[in-house]
Amino acid sequence: MRAAMSGILLALGLSCAAAQAQDAIAVQVDTSQPGARIDRHIFGQFAEQLGTQIYNGIWVGRHSKIPNVRGIRKDVVAALRELHVPDVRWPGGCYADQYHWRDGVGKTRTTRVNTSWGDVLDSNAFGTDEYFDFLHQIGSQAYVSVNLGSGTVEEAADWLEYMTADKPTTLAKERAANGHPAPYKVAYLGLGNESWDCGGLMTPTEYTARMRRFARFVNNFNPAEKMQKIAVGPGTADTDWTDAVMSTWKKRHGWSFDLDGMSLHSYTVAGGWPPHMPSMDFGEQDYASVLQETLKMNGLIDKQSAVMDQYDPDKKIALVVDEWGGWYAPTPGSNPHFLQQQNSQRDAILAALNLNIFARHADRVRMANIAQMVNVLQAMLMTDGPKMIRTPTYYVFKMYVPFQDATFLPVTYDAGTYTYKDITLPRVDAIAAKAKDGKIVVSLTNLDPNRPADFAITVPGAAATVANGQVLAAPAVDAVNTFAAPNTVSPKPVSAQVSDGKLSITLPPASVTVLTLDR
Ligand code: AHR
Repeated sequence: MRAAMSGILLALGLSCAAAQAQDAIAVQVDTSQPGARIDRHIFGQFAEQLGTQIYNGIWVGRHSKIPNVRGIRKDVVAALRELHVPDVRWPGGCYADQYHWRDGVGKTRTTRVNTSWGDVLDSNAFGTDEYFDFLHQIGSQAYVSVNLGSGTVEEAADWLEYMTADKPTTLAKERAANGHPAPYKVAYLGLGNESWDCGGLMTPTEYTARMRRFARFVNNFNPAEKMQKIAVGPGTADTDWTDAVMSTWKKRHGWSFDLDGMSLHSYTVAGGWPPHMPSMDFGEQDYASVLQETLKMNGLIDKQSAVMDQYDPDKKIALVVDEWGGWYAPTPGSNPHFLQQQNSQRDAILAALNLNIFARHADRVRMANIAQMVNVLQAMLMTDGPKMIRTPTYYVFKMYVPFQDATFLPVTYDAGTYTYKDITLPRVDAIAAKAKDGKIVVSLTNLDPNRPADFAITVPGAAATVANGQVLAAPAVDAVNTFAAPNTVSPKPVSAQVSDGKLSITLPPASVTVLTLDR
């Protein structure tokens, strides 16, 4: 059963609110109490060496008929550039703890079996230099996860020297011989991945003992650039792991080591593990269950932040949500190890809700990486041979670009409720911020798949005369873009009616809208 959402309602919702209903949701934006900066790195991405993400999704090789620059797909690069992707986490994920960087540099590459993801061959044609070329092409920064599981401190330290040394060391010369004399910038360094599970099933004590050595000896060699180190954090609401990492950090002294962040992994897996809910052709029950599950991110962050506050009240250590997103049953017919799934209007709502949660915690959550970027899990893009489509999630990330490095502004409103059987959710969600260019941006999400929502927005002190933006709505909550119909879900221009400083707008059921206020 597809959730009912008639074309008439959609058309109604897309129009300006010519006639506001009596029960318009009053949203007040408080410009007098600016909050934390919404770090652009909460819009980070994750590109694991997994399935068809790197091979075919990003990398096709220099001799491919698919248009490419030095082996990297032109269409994918062009689409990603529009998102202003701040950083790309690579090479994993679970794969990071089996990855040996020497396999992927130089003229002769070592072919390996990717035992993390389906025992397929990995030619290592895409290695360190190709990763940095990709970052250069899309205009992004590196977030490299080193192998703390099956690798050594020495191997990771050498890799950092290869990437970042600005002096003519032997490894820097090897990098130059491979085509890149200038040091690369590694903005973020991940010290392992899910060490409590695929990263080696370590106890908190085992991990912190190992992490201390990696944090001390795996260093950036380029004094012109700062690198931030991120320890593995929890993957559940349990706080033992957080406690161990934070207390280890607190006990450091002198020249021992330092950290800048601790990760948090939290996927939206409604109905329990393993992921079994379909990513397409679902009804309102699944829609409501998934959104209910995803909203737990808020409590999870609160709980882990409270423990971090005990050790770090000044919030020096960022909580880095470097794996998040919806995880569903594999697309029927696909290799289940490739984690391929469709991406629907529901995922657009899911993305907006999580980004809003991160923005509300911007003082502690200064980085996040959606899982993942191309063809895997809640991807931005999907490819099939030479074809490429943008997903509904892609459009949310694009619409949210003005929130990158914007200043959070508190909003007050009565969200009301949307109820489906025994599930009750907030009917709407909203955030606001002052963008880098000084303009005020407001995001409005209508979770209710059956009712349009009327908003009446006031922004004292802003004196806006126009409010234009985009709305992402769809014919149904399970609507997806396909290679045959790539534009079923795509944003449309929208404007609020502005009168006496009050913005009025009606937004369609199950939609995400971003408005920019102007004079
Ligand atoms: O994103 C897929 C996998 O999920 C990652 O490799 C791992 O870290 C997590 O369990």
